Amino acid sequence: MSAEVAAHVDRDRLWDRHMRLALHGATPARGVNRQALSTEEIAARRELIEWGVALGLTPHTDPAGNLFLRLEGRDRDAPPVLSGSHLDSQPTGGKFDGVYGVLAALEAVQAIIESGRSPSRAIEVVAWMNEEGSRFAPGMMGSAAFAGAAPLAEMLPVRDVKGVSVQQALAEMRAAFPSVPERPLQRPVAAYVEAHIEQGPVLEREGFSVGVVTGIQGKRTFRVTVTGEEAHAGTARRQERKDALLAATAIIQSLANAMHDDADIVKFTVGRLEVRPNAPSVVAGQAVFSIDLRHPDESTLRALGDRVPAICASSAGPCDVGVEELVTAMPLEFPVTMRAEIAAAAARLGVRTMDLPSAAGHDSRYLHGICPSAMLFVPCKEGISHNEAESAKPEDLYDGARVLAETLAELAE
Ligand code: GLV
Ligand code: MN
Ligand code: MN
Repeated sequence: MSAEVAAHVDRDRLWDRHMRLALHGATPARGVNRQALSTEEIAARRELIEWGVALGLTPHTDPAGNLFLRLEGRDRDAPPVLSGSHLDSQPTGGKFDGVYGVLAALEAVQAIIESGRSPSRAIEVVAWMNEEGSRFAPGMMGSAAFAGAAPLAEMLPVRDVKGVSVQQALAEMRAAFPSVPERPLQRPVAAYVEAHIEQGPVLEREGFSVGVVTGIQGKRTFRVTVTGEEAHAGTARRQERKDALLAATAIIQSLANAMHDDADIVKFTVGRLEVRPNAPSVVAGQAVFSIDLRHPDESTLRALGDRVPAICASSAGPCDVGVEELVTAMPLEFPVTMRAEIAAAAARLGVRTMDLPSAAGHDSRYLHGICPSAMLFVPCKEGISHNEAESAKPEDLYDGARVLAETLAELAE
């Protein structure tokens, strides 16, 4: 195949769509706060659907609130090729994390249409529900439910900090799109390709506009609940106190010490701490915190994660502690054949690529379990991500979208 599909990828259109979606949930610091199924995310979905419908794509959703825009194939019964990522963001997120994968897929499909091709298989642009896991934990709910990796029934009761459940938020989202039909979860898929900003510094440092992702490092997440007893800050005697916040900080420090490695391969993060009643003059009765633990090696990740409950118990002092594991996701490698598809498409376009692993998690983790899957990365400025300052260059996004367009055209033929 020549590069005629990629010739229809439009750099400015791709960039303008990023800037337009960034208006939904725009923050004063030029980032976005567009958490899963929020009003802002629903508005972004609406704009995406409008763009897709204008191209002749058919929107549909599913019981997990994933959004699909389908370009019909010549063979209507053949399983589709899927490509996308997510529209939700972290509370202080950037304009590109997730959005790029969705808009690059839309741009690729538009390029295929404009090239006059009619692919044999359908191609569906997808925006997965709640990749980030900031409003509803854990993340990647939509792709996990779609792939059958976790039951939707277990996600529906999960509540955000305001007490709104996933089930209620899904109902609000559905009510916003009454004419968008629903299709079942776990449909057969021919292949999945996800484009994403790297969220790390390697491509920029090495001078490549496109990276072929070899795999994703493993991740285990936990929720730790420390239970003490509320008491008066002025009167309660030290030996009687069961200070949940003090215990939580001791536990977190013990965990950080235990997870420390000089080579900085282990990634250990406590990003959320909720204290009850969270009042200056009340000894904290409860502290709940998150653990995000990542490592590229399966046995190391297993061993480190398995130590968490004992470390928590040994540093809890007079408080009780409970540890729940929310996600157990081992390191994975994408199939060599799929990586070769991306590399070959890039070579046809004269785009130089390098192979690199993903340190961040992505929906492709779950798609990998049900169909041949792959990812391509484009650089972002200084590797900054999960930060309002996240930034990327139009020409890098363009190169990635051209490679994606050629890859999807090939996979759908
Ligand atoms: C995805 O957003 C991750 O946290 O890796
Ligand atoms: Mn992402
Ligand atoms: Mn993210």
